[in-house]
Amino acid sequence: MKLLHSIMVFSLSTSILLAAPQAAEETELNQILVTGEASSKVLLETLGSRLKEQLETGGVMKAFEFCSDEAYNITQEVNKGFESGVNIKRISTQFRSPANAPKADESAVLEELSTLKKNGALPTHLVKQIDEKTFKYYKPLLIEKKVCLKCHGKIYKDNTDLKKAIEARYPLDSAINYEMGDLRGAIVVTITK
Ligand code: HEC
Repeated sequence: MKLLHSIMVFSLSTSILLAAPQAAEETELNQILVTGEASSKVLLETLGSRLKEQLETGGVMKAFEFCSDEAYNITQEVNKGFESGVNIKRISTQFRSPANAPKADESAVLEELSTLKKNGALPTHLVKQIDEKTFKYYKPLLIEKKVCLKCHGKIYKDNTDLKKAIEARYPLDSAINYEMGDLRGAIVVTITK
């Protein structure tokens, strides 16, 4: 009886030992997903509502100036509101602002997302582990609203003022010629434990 008891205790404790690291990993991944999703939502809602306000009050030219002058600063402001170890940004292989150019590892993920999209398997998010403490949460950004095409569509056909403004401000712009449903880029949330 005593033997049986100690065998049971032994097997119970080994199964706990084996299960523990896996459970910890799952919790960690879950925390990354929650932080990544919540942070992306804050940035998208903040930029989206400000853009809408500008379009409604001043039209596309005012909204263009606003995006050029403020989108990056607003992103930095949003970052200040996050807990330390969380940083958000937008990236695209066809970027307008060089400040939104992807790093090498991020370019690879954008390529991966583009391939997944072509295969009809675009995920809502991807998580990449960078090192023991650092993770990058990616949220694909699609051209889902017609309003995006005002500044990222085939604008060279119809709006010459906007065309001039874009060329003056972004001589190397490649963020045009998009169509509805295209992958525009991604949000990256870097989370350091
Ligand atoms: C009024 C013009 C305008 C509209 C409308 C607009 N954008 Fe942009 N977008 C810009 C400008 C200017 C930049 C570069 C400045 C910045 O945002 O950092 C930019 C940058 C971006 C970037 C960052 C990558 C890059 O190219 O620099 C993403 C992603 C993006 N836009 C997605 C969208 C989406 C999605 C929509 C529709 C919801 C949209 N934009 C609507 C003008 C616009």
